[in-house]
Amino acid sequence: MSVSIQFEPDGKQIEIKQGMSVLEAARKARVSIRTRCEGKAGCLQCKVTIEADEGLIHSPTEAEQRKMGFFSTCGERLACQARIIGSSNGKVVVHVPEDPLKAAVRKRLLEQQEEDRLW
Ligand code: FES
Repeated sequence: MSVSIQFEPDGKQIEIKQGMSVLEAARKARVSIRTRCEGKAGCLQCKVTIEADEGLIHSPTEAEQRKMGFFSTCGERLACQARIIGSSNGKVVVHVPEDPLKAAVRKRLLEQQEEDRLW
């Protein structure tokens, strides 16, 4: 059985087998998620928001809840710790925050387009 996982805002979608972490799935889909600790729940850089049908994602471990604190109650998870456990044909949507450098470049390009339009 496989689970469909979609990464936003890229819109990339892949089928994965249960047991894989969201971070591993992102790498398989060639979606960039920031990390410094390479999946050891130490850097908190891999925070994502996950929408999934009941029972498709392993609930946060005590260690993840302790690390995330308030954010764990807002639907945010650590991509390196959230594992796909569902065996039914369900769907998971992962919202990945935009890389700050990429966001700055995109903002500057939009400003440039606006300036060009005025001339
Ligand atoms: S990769 Fe560092 S906390 Fe997830």
